Amino acid sequence: MTTCATTDLNTTKRAYNFSAGPGVIPEDVIRAAQEDLWSIFGSGIGILEHSHRGKEFDRVIEEAEADCRRVGNIPDNYRVLFLQGGATTQCYQVPMAFLADGKTADYFSTGKWATDSMKEAGRYGTVHVAGSSEATAFDRIPDDADTKYSDSPTYVHYTSNNTIMGTQWHRTPTPPGDAWLVCDASSDIYSRPIDITRFGMLYAGGQKNLGPAGTVLVIVRDDILEKQVRDLPWMLDYKLQAKKQSRYNTPPTFGIYLMGQVFKWIERQGGLGEIEKINNAKGKVLYDAIDGSDFYTPHARVQDRSLMNITFKSPSAELDKKFLAEADAHSMANLKGHRSIGGMRASMYNAFPHAGAVALASFMKDFAQKNG
Ligand SMILES: Cc1ncc(COP(=O)(O)O)c(C=O)c1O
Repeated sequence: MTTCATTDLNTTKRAYNFSAGPGVIPEDVIRAAQEDLWSIFGSGIGILEHSHRGKEFDRVIEEAEADCRRVGNIPDNYRVLFLQGGATTQCYQVPMAFLADGKTADYFSTGKWATDSMKEAGRYGTVHVAGSSEATAFDRIPDDADTKYSDSPTYVHYTSNNTIMGTQWHRTPTPPGDAWLVCDASSDIYSRPIDITRFGMLYAGGQKNLGPAGTVLVIVRDDILEKQVRDLPWMLDYKLQAKKQSRYNTPPTFGIYLMGQVFKWIERQGGLGEIEKINNAKGKVLYDAIDGSDFYTPHARVQDRSLMNITFKSPSAELDKKFLAEADAHSMANLKGHRSIGGMRASMYNAFPHAGAVALASFMKDFAQKNG
């Protein structure tokens, strides 16, 4: 019998991966997936090879949905969809489906992904900026006092965590009148407890907190599905996708499988309450390291700091470069900040280990002492 590469794979030392996405996947999920790639449920056929209409995949998708609902406490009047095209498709699919010609949607302008969504929405209707932090290089979440909604928006859209800037909403906006709330939660979905009843719709690309790239989770209230204003292509029709249990065509079967495993992993950690505590503790380690030194400058305003993406700079671009090279040599990978803001970005999604935050904080202290 031929031996396969998994032996090497399982003994190779893994780096601390601070990637902003695709991000870290829980180790026991990866190990279980290795087995299920070979044969799932004792079928003799791996998860990649099963028909999306067969009984094995029925079980995979049904469990993934049930686990997603249990973890997020999603009520029965919401649909859970596993779609394709990433969160970027949702940027246009939402307004294409729900924003009628001549109608207005309100958006919060808090960084690249938020502004991309605004640009896409502008193709279909009028975009009103309800709040913006553009004037301060997107270093914050707009305050309620600075928020101005339009008269009767169809919906209000916000990005709960700004992956590039390292800012995060620590409250949920309340839309005016009959408007419903849409959230791009791609980079902080299920990183803390969530009250889904505050939302009409929420979406998240999978590759940060939920699994691999290529699958986007959409949670949408039933009555919203009835509000589609255009005759949509089949693949972009939320109502049709809900009716077909996300299987209008061949869905991203492996992505759905892996998301299902991640939901089970979250439950094994004790659920979202426990996940939040773990994330708070990891974030504190790094923010303490930044705040405890004159060497590092954080990008985000203190009260709007993200627990998922921590952005900071050293005193110069040359030192940033040196920092990144030395961190990499110490098995701390992917710390380079996004090109639009530079510096460093430490992304610590749910599955990122606490020990990695401690290792980076200790490295930061050392680096500051040597180079300060
Ligand atoms: C908040 C946010 N929204 C949208 C996207 C785009 O996601 P995708 O690449 O899955 O289309 C990203 C990607 O990093 C993101 O961080």
